[in-house]
Amino acid sequence: MQRIFSGIQPSGIPTLGNYLGAIRNWVPLQADHECIYCVVDLHAITQWQEPSLLARQTRELAASLMACGIDPVGQILFLQSLVPEHAELAWIFNCVARLGWLNRMTQFKDKAGKDRENASAGLYVYPNLMAADILAYHATRVPVGDDQRQHLELANDIAQKFNHDFGADFFPAIEPLILGPAARVMSLRDGTKKMSKSDTSDQSRINLNDSAAAIAQKIRRARTDPEPLPGEPAGLEGRPEARNLVGIYAALADTDEAGVLSQHGGKGFAAFKEDLAGLLIATIGPIAAETGRLLADPAHVDGVLRGGAERAKRIAGPIVAEAKRLVGFLAA
Ligand code: AMP
Ligand code: TRP
Repeated sequence: MQRIFSGIQPSGIPTLGNYLGAIRNWVPLQADHECIYCVVDLHAITQWQEPSLLARQTRELAASLMACGIDPVGQILFLQSLVPEHAELAWIFNCVARLGWLNRMTQFKDKAGKDRENASAGLYVYPNLMAADILAYHATRVPVGDDQRQHLELANDIAQKFNHDFGADFFPAIEPLILGPAARVMSLRDGTKKMSKSDTSDQSRINLNDSAAAIAQKIRRARTDPEPLPGEPAGLEGRPEARNLVGIYAALADTDEAGVLSQHGGKGFAAFKEDLAGLLIATIGPIAAETGRLLADPAHVDGVLRGGAERAKRIAGPIVAEAKRLVGFLAA
């Protein structure tokens, strides 16, 4: 059985982008894989997180993942900072990865923005920690949104260079799983920007805890162009906002762009948005309700993350110990 690993940052409330690009695809993989899902708080602090909020966001994210259908009993759901092997292996990878490789990472450029001198060093080596997350478990398949593709290529480069430098066939190759018609959900205000938890405008995204009224209002106000919907996907060319809403609809309705357009082509956006809002409310409403129910017992949610960490450590411990031995460190 192949081992799956994926992670999500507790840097805010998960968005529709997280859900359609990642979490929703994590759920069915549980049927025939050993799955390890991680709340990556070490990654979150690469950008400023208010300490008084971080623990709460961590717990809310864990509850939200369970509400989406992540199984914390049959699989592993845990908190990254409770398993020190991640940071330990990341340090080794800091010494394997080359500056030239990191300089090509587009996410660093996006997140650091114009004031690059003031970005944290952690943000720069973020992809090395992500490689460590996956490789500490010898995981081979990683379900993520499209924006993580380049980081997974880097993880494969690190694994190969480690194996080469230390003369061992130790770390396996990683296969990215980038699934579904909404692997890149864009902002509702700007079809060229990705939907993000940390966007300053709440109108740019659907949060997994938004009320039905908020969802309907955000979709109604979502930016579009004045043309009606085209009859086929070619007509979405150069219309990023239209393509985004069609992609979201396709993912929710388990179809593709062509399927959506064969049904809705020729309609104006007002009617289409109403249908889309209905679908969204039917999907997200129950997730928000179940998240709320789980959060009524915060100790249980925290217990899941701690129990998951103990089980994760039993897998990562021996793998990271062997990596240290290969590097030449004196055994403990
Ligand atoms: P993050 O919120 O950055 O921790 O991302 C967690 C997961 O959600 C990763 O697999 C991302 O690729 C995915 N993801 C985040 N934002 C989007 C988006 N706008 N569209 C699709 N997937 C996304
Ligand atoms: N960097 C990922 C993101 O922000 C989150 C992440 C951290 C991750 N470690 C991971 C995803 C390991 C997959 C595997 O989207």
